[in-house]
Amino acid sequence: MASEEPVEVVTCTAPVNIAVIKYWGKRDEELILPINSSLSVTLHQDQLKTTTTAAISRDFTEDRIWLNGREEDVGQPRLQACLREIRRLARKRRSDGHEDPLPLSLSYKVHVASVNNFPTAAGLASSAAGYACLAYTLARVYGVESDLSEVARRGSGSACRSLYGGFVEWQMGQRADGKDSVARQVAPESHWPELRVLILVVSTERKPTGSTAGMQTSVETSALLRFRAEALVPARMAEMSRCVRERDFQAFGQLTMKDSNQFHATCLDTFPPISYLSDTSRRVIRLVHCFNAHHGRTKVAYTFDAGANAVIFTLDDTVAEFVAAVRHSFPPELNGDKFLKGLPVEPVPLSDELKAALGADPTPGGIKYIIATQVGPGPQVLDDPGAHLLGPDGLPKPAA
Ligand code: DP6
Repeated sequence: MASEEPVEVVTCTAPVNIAVIKYWGKRDEELILPINSSLSVTLHQDQLKTTTTAAISRDFTEDRIWLNGREEDVGQPRLQACLREIRRLARKRRSDGHEDPLPLSLSYKVHVASVNNFPTAAGLASSAAGYACLAYTLARVYGVESDLSEVARRGSGSACRSLYGGFVEWQMGQRADGKDSVARQVAPESHWPELRVLILVVSTERKPTGSTAGMQTSVETSALLRFRAEALVPARMAEMSRCVRERDFQAFGQLTMKDSNQFHATCLDTFPPISYLSDTSRRVIRLVHCFNAHHGRTKVAYTFDAGANAVIFTLDDTVAEFVAAVRHSFPPELNGDKFLKGLPVEPVPLSDELKAALGADPTPGGIKYIIATQVGPGPQVLDDPGAHLLGPDGLPKPAA
């Protein structure tokens, strides 16, 4: 038990991001440097976020971390890399002559507690929000103001993109030390207010191959992945930035789907092959193409990460009809109001023409539930001391 209150306690939140140009493959495993640039959309924290509290005190005898209420091994290499990086940046700031904002010693140990507001069991990528939140919170505690891409990236590559709101690119960089491998905002969250995101949580029993191991095997064995990274992604990055800048949904949606498909093609080209998509994922793909064909244009787009869940992009005027199409094709096993979480969506009837276009082969229970959300801001500092996850003794507060 600490004899004094922690010297400094900070609580922050950070968002989940979904890549529309995928990161898959590292050129440096230790520094987590990618073989291609990537571009993502930051999701709103009202629906999905990580909250992290960090505290430092001269009374703490070791660094400790609790995730979703359970103490974890702080010796994990990626956690250690983040802690080392932030302390290095804090030391650098001091030696650069900046006024020390806190009467702290860099030798003080840190306690960290972190929770997600969404179930880890839903299979949603939580490491990006988690490491972005860790980097952001530690930076506040240690008074670091420089770019945090490097700190977040050392936890999980895609985490550096969760440091910003809106539309974000992770520039692969050229340098061997990774100093130019950084995340940058392409456009803020206010840029495209009509854009909506639906996460279709797919029932799956299988535990997929983790991204880290999966992409390592892909780099070692897939010639298609190398070709993609070198010959295709640079032009795709430029085109995706244009689609975002000009709010060109047709082109944005098509490129998002093509890039997701190409990423999963490189997984199949990996040896032994990796497959993340389930039968339900493939049914969602068919549903989206039927829906778009019925309307004669790209009104919805899918993307899939290293799992079976679908992330759908669409515009606000199409959400209700598409949700009705999902309900039609995947009759919910949960009762109506539990099936749809997040932003409210008005129920609308489906036209007979659209029903016919979707075909009569419903898969009951294929989709567990939908989270409706939108583009959101980057990490935030919570000023309310009541938000701290650690008590005055530096230990996790009992869950309310
Ligand atoms: C398919 O960032 O989870 O979601 O850097 O090894 O931690 P590590 O991998 P991670 O990979 C994400 C892969 C992806 C595509 C993406 O988010 O760009």
